[in-house]
This record gives sequence, structure tokens and C-alpha cells, in this order.
Amino acid sequence: MTTKPTIAIAADHGGFSLKKAIIAAYADQFDFLDLGTRSEESCNYADYGHALAEALAQGRARQGIIICGSGIGISIAANRHKVVRAALCTDVTMARLSRFHNDANVLALGARIIGQQVAFDCVDAFFSTAFEGGRHQARVEKLNVGI
Ligand code: RB5
Repeated sequence: MTTKPTIAIAADHGGFSLKKAIIAAYADQFDFLDLGTRSEESCNYADYGHALAEALAQGRARQGIIICGSGIGISIAANRHKVVRAALCTDVTMARLSRFHNDANVLALGARIIGQQVAFDCVDAFFSTAFEGGRHQARVEKLNVGI
């Protein structure tokens, strides 16, 4: 029996229904650590970006998905934490390059910007692409200068 990787996932109300759809579609592939929100009721995206970052910092998951309406607010919040390299992706190429070149560990999605199929395509690309390393290693190491 192979163990499924744990993926932390968090969204505000704008990302709630896409979060639900991703958890349902990828249940066979991943164990989700669902950090909320748990309804369409209005809430603050920053709380969920920080919660995702804390889960990674605590070692509860190595990778994550964050979703808000645009993907912008929640990725700004998450990226204020040293442990997070969140990439806001609107297509497959961005998702793939964020892994190849940036060793992104969190996929950020804007539920009001992209459709569900594009979101799924981004999830597929992000979690099946390995970091290239090499010349990108030193660049990634410089990302935390200043925080
Ligand atoms: C919520 O209305 C919306 O502002 C939020 O989901 C996100 O788009 C913020 O960046």
C-alpha cells in the first residue's frame, strides 16, 4: 500500500467551492489537511494564508494549495512566512515553471479568475513537476533575504 502525500489546503469564502471541488476530485491522490474556511460565509483571506503557512512550519504538510477570489490576497499573506513559496498560477505553464524554477511549495489559485478545469490542470502540473535545481538552487536560496 502506498501512502498518499498530505496536502494542506485553505481558502476564504471566495475559494470555498473550488476548494471543495479539488478535495473531491483528488481524494484518491492526496490526503488533504483542510484548514477551512468551511462555508461561503464572508471571512478574511489573510487568516487562511497564515493558517496554511503555520501548518507547513509545523511540518503537518510539505506542500499546499491556497485559494481566494483572485488568489492575490491569500498568496500575499502566505508569502510573508519564510517557509512558504506560494505561486499564483493562472495556467499550466505557470504551475509547471513554479515548480521547475522556483521550487514553489504552495499553489495559489484565484477561483474568480480561472475555471475549474484550468484549476485542476494547474493542480496536475504543480504536483507532478519536480524542481530542476542546478542554477535555480542559489536563486531560490536568495528568496528569503530580507524576511
Ligand atoms: C473576497 O471578496 C476577495 O477580496 C478575496 O477572495 C480575494 O480576492 C482577495 O485577494
